[in-house]
Amino acid sequence: MECISPQELARTMLRRGDILQAVAAEVRDKTKPGDKVLDPFCGSGVLLAVASRLKRQVRGCDIGPEMVDFASKLIARHGGQEGDIQVGDATSLSMPTSSFNFVITSIPGWNTVKYSNAREALEAKSQQDYWLQMRQAIGEMRRVLKPGGSCMFVQSQETAARMATLAREADLPTNFVMVPGAR
Ligand SMILES: C[S@@+](CC[C@H](N)C(=O)[O-])C[C@H]1O[C@@H](n2cnc3c(N)ncnc32)[C@H](O)[C@@H]1O
Repeated sequence: MECISPQELARTMLRRGDILQAVAAEVRDKTKPGDKVLDPFCGSGVLLAVASRLKRQVRGCDIGPEMVDFASKLIARHGGQEGDIQVGDATSLSMPTSSFNFVITSIPGWNTVKYSNAREALEAKSQQDYWLQMRQAIGEMRRVLKPGGSCMFVQSQETAARMATLAREADLPTNFVMVPGAR
């Protein structure tokens, strides 16, 4: 399976001006300057950089240390302010309950791309195991959101449909920005 670097991930996302505009519109609509925004699968940090440019306080985690390192620098450069980016597991977040206004993220695909050579990103043994972990991650997003907070996923249509079901089950208010052609 191919291993995608933080640089490639960032290049792919930064080329999609249409998607980044939709993300910015949603951040503006759902939050105000100074609000706290989390990306628990932050990858290269592009989504958080969009929120950071809009003067939201951004925090993120990723299982891959190389992603975290890259995202911290990208957010400072493109977002105009420092983000708080740490190595962490989205299925078991270290952040306190009810501490964010908004969650913005793209979940990793099942068995499509490898994000890290250091550790298999999301060590799901089967597709069923993978969706169980996604359910756990959604539960964590729900836990760390303040009352009235909501979540936005930037995903392929196929993944979005599954995530919509999990989000409904967890009573997590969710919007989607679709990425045509994404896996
Ligand atoms: C689709 S990519 C994120 C792309 C990101 N939105 C961007 O713009 O670069 C998914 C990310 O989830 C990370 N990941 C996989 N399993 C994880 C876990 N259990 N906890 C946190 N991050 C994880 C991968 O390392 C990868 O960087």
